[in-house]
Amino acid sequence: MTSEKLMEMAVEAMRHAYSPYSGFKVGAAVLCADGSVYQGCNIENAAFGPSVCAERTAIFKAVYDGHRDFTAIAVCGGKDGEISGFFPPCGVCRQVMREFCEDDFMIYMVGPNGTHEEMTLAQLLPCSFSAKKHMQ
Ligand code: THU
Repeated sequence: MTSEKLMEMAVEAMRHAYSPYSGFKVGAAVLCADGSVYQGCNIENAAFGPSVCAERTAIFKAVYDGHRDFTAIAVCGGKDGEISGFFPPCGVCRQVMREFCEDDFMIYMVGPNGTHEEMTLAQLLPCSFSAKKHMQ
């Protein structure tokens, strides 16, 4: 699985978004250590609070299927599905990534006109103390 293909799968996932309140369609595709890919979209709710981001939809689908090791995620979004800029994962999604992913987990943010930005989880959510390791 190449990063380009993973980003294409995030773009495809955007079409599944349920976002009547914000109008923003977001798609994500997470790559598991065994090479399988799970796609996710944002799913909003009239009460706002229960809404879920595309990244968490993808990761939770994968975890349900037994995956706990991930190497990369691609994400994209925009008003009415039109990619107009980069969509960095929100703080809650970064925290969910911290639960399952290592510092070198890659985040590919798809931008307009074939552009993209990439960052590691260590860059997006630095953490020098692993609560998970110390719980064992
Ligand atoms: N959203 C995501 O799906 N991922 C992010 O990383 C940030 C925000 C969604 C939540 C909401 O449905 C819409 O984008 C507007 O914030």
